[in-house]
Amino acid sequence: MGADSDNGAIEQSFATRHAGSAALRERACEALAGGVAHDTRIQAPFPVMTARAKGSRKWDVDGNEIVDYTMGHGALILGHGHPVAVDAAREQLAIGTHYGAGHELEIAWAEQIKRLKPSIERVRFHSSGTEATHMAMRLARAHTGRDRIIKFKGHFHGWHDYATVAVEEPYDIPTSAGVPAATQGTITALPTDLDLVREALSRGDVAAVIVEPSGAGWGALPIAPTFIEGLRDLTTEHDAVLILDEVVTGFRMSSGGFQVMAGVTPDLTTMAKIVAGGLPGAAVGGRADIMDRLEKRGDPAWDRGQRIAHPGTYNANPVSAAAGTAVLDFLAGDAVHAHIDALCETLRQGLQEAFDRHDVGALVYGETSYFHISLSGQPAKSGLGGAAGDALGQALLNEGVHLISGGGFTSAAHTEADIEQTVAAFDAAIGAVAAEGLFDS
Ligand SMILES: Cc1ncc(COP(=O)(O)O)c(C=O)c1O
Repeated sequence: MGADSDNGAIEQSFATRHAGSAALRERACEALAGGVAHDTRIQAPFPVMTARAKGSRKWDVDGNEIVDYTMGHGALILGHGHPVAVDAAREQLAIGTHYGAGHELEIAWAEQIKRLKPSIERVRFHSSGTEATHMAMRLARAHTGRDRIIKFKGHFHGWHDYATVAVEEPYDIPTSAGVPAATQGTITALPTDLDLVREALSRGDVAAVIVEPSGAGWGALPIAPTFIEGLRDLTTEHDAVLILDEVVTGFRMSSGGFQVMAGVTPDLTTMAKIVAGGLPGAAVGGRADIMDRLEKRGDPAWDRGQRIAHPGTYNANPVSAAAGTAVLDFLAGDAVHAHIDALCETLRQGLQEAFDRHDVGALVYGETSYFHISLSGQPAKSGLGGAAGDALGQALLNEGVHLISGGGFTSAAHTEADIEQTVAAFDAAIGAVAAEGLFDS
């Protein structure tokens, strides 16, 4: 059979199993800009719409049960609806969702972050990782009196103006329209090459180097910890601020994140996702002398000339503070990490064997509790791109497995049985795509 007719078979099965999602698609396109709420949820031929979730599973509007590896874009390290997060949030919901004032929980939340990440002396809370990286850049600029930020090609730091530079190939075209060239001109995007970083730093105008410490796209393009150590040395030498963007890795690679696992001490750290227990919330933390730029001193010269202003209606909202504190407390000691890392290793091996059984030259890789798949056989940010990747994504949903950006996350709720079921689902899905001849095209 030709590829077209076979491709039709996967799509036809997808359409049949997901009729309710297809119907919602029409409404979504009329009501939601672009039909979705987040770019990575765009999916051909239409996104599957979820009705509920629990543990390692979610159920779509058609009643299909799905083993979930998106895990809230990496936020749900304990899985869906874990009692630690839910009970803390429920108790707090009953006594106040917003005090419009400070509260003890925000202090406890910051103290818990400081315990897990000894590099952090002070914390400021935000609502999203995008706000956190924006704030970290501003802190570095105010602290050094310099404008330039070095980032790395392919590294993602959210969607604010400065973060739009060199995220996806071709790297010389920003990921977004509507950003002034002058703004983008303050960002230097480099390959992960310490010689080039040294050269850029030596010009003396660099405020900070920001990096996803396990590599672009939460380790889709892995980098060695020695590279981060090199950045630490170079930034110290040139009085620039080292920002580790630990929005994904922060409490996932260990309870203290990448930095504790690798023994690297940044000046500033950005955190989101797990930090708020899977609810909306984020933070910047780091050296007191940098973070204290946020302090109001009653001295007009400082307050209007040196200080960073920072309002934000939902900063440290009590419900996120409650869930975040409870989850971070539960993670301390790394017992959860031992479980989810071992499961993910079993998953990575099982998936690699499944591709190998079908003679598809794909690579399954990753660290700790995340995995990536690249059909090219080389680490890549869009490892499941192209016709074969699209078809595999659909075929996997037909088999009841949902990935995010060609990979995913294990959680405390995943079990050995989930992993076995997932490997069997991959076997079937890879077989379906292979039968269409799409791996050869
Ligand atoms: C490394 C990194 N930084 C920043 C962000 C932005 O976080 P948010 O989506 O909460 O704005 C993300 C989001 O996935 C991320 O992966």
